[in-house]
Amino acid sequence: MKAPYIFATANQKGGVGKTTTVITLGSSLSVFGFRVLLVDLDPQASLTNHLAVEPEKLECYVGDLMISDSFNPADAIINKYRLKNGGCIDLLPSNINLARIEAELSISKGGGLKLREKLKFFKNSYDYIIIDSSPALSVLLISAVAASDEIIIPVMADFLSARGVDLLLSTITKIEKALDTKCTYRLLITMFDRRTNSSLKSADYFKNKYRNNHFSGLINIDTKFRDASLIKKPLTYIDIHSRGALDYIGVAREIINGLDGGDNEGDKK
Ligand SMILES: Nc1ncnc2c1ncn2[C@@H]1O[C@H](COP(=O)(O)OP(=O)(O)OP(=O)(O)O)[C@@H](O)[C@H]1O
Ligand SMILES: [Mg+2]
Repeated sequence: MKAPYIFATANQKGGVGKTTTVITLGSSLSVFGFRVLLVDLDPQASLTNHLAVEPEKLECYVGDLMISDSFNPADAIINKYRLKNGGCIDLLPSNINLARIEAELSISKGGGLKLREKLKFFKNSYDYIIIDSSPALSVLLISAVAASDEIIIPVMADFLSARGVDLLLSTITKIEKALDTKCTYRLLITMFDRRTNSSLKSADYFKNKYRNNHFSGLINIDTKFRDASLIKKPLTYIDIHSRGALDYIGVAREIINGLDGGDNEGDKK
């Protein structure tokens, strides 16, 4: 496996589970013993908040690294969780100033490549890096696509969510061409409610339409995700047996087995 393997979440639709995926998938990978860096690339700083880090009090954040060479990338990292099995979660946090940096990056030459460049610094420090994106098609999305090996597209299990996916995919293709980079993607169905017809039908629709580009596992609706964001901890650490945590652990397994033919899961456990 290429290390670190870099994921970014993307969907210009808000509230589909991008941040929840970053934090719960990241923590699920850590329970298998992997070293995980979570990157908050959203000026709303939901991921930073969710990990109980106050965005206003940061001395250094992801935007500083993207706009200036005078910061040491290591200084921006916050060590959040260290597990006994060697797994960890670190955070490269965000704050509202990223919105200003976003404007600067969009008019500077090569602005979209800055994050990719800076993440190279962490080459030997992590097994996985997961980038959380804002709900927009902006230079921050370009930065996330340029930096990642694979895009995770969380989609809510309803038909309204279907509309934006093709737009997102054509945007990603344009970014790939412009930057001469290659990125794969997989859809992840979130907030699935098996009691409703619309959830069942839309899940079938996504699985058929994006046949080779979706995770087999899907994420059920679970009110415990909201509790976790109030407690400001990953659900995987609060209640590993909850429906939501088990779903993301399943996705983590899919990733580990897919990338390493399953060998790594046993090694790392
Ligand atoms: N599977 C789920 N079941 C129930 N609630 C969920 C689930 N996934 C996410 N949520 C809740 O839905 C809300 C939106 O989720 P989240 O913040 O992850 O979306 P987002 O795509 O990151 O939003 P934004 O586009 O604003 O960044 C949150 O309150 C979260 O706790
Ligand atoms: Mg979010």
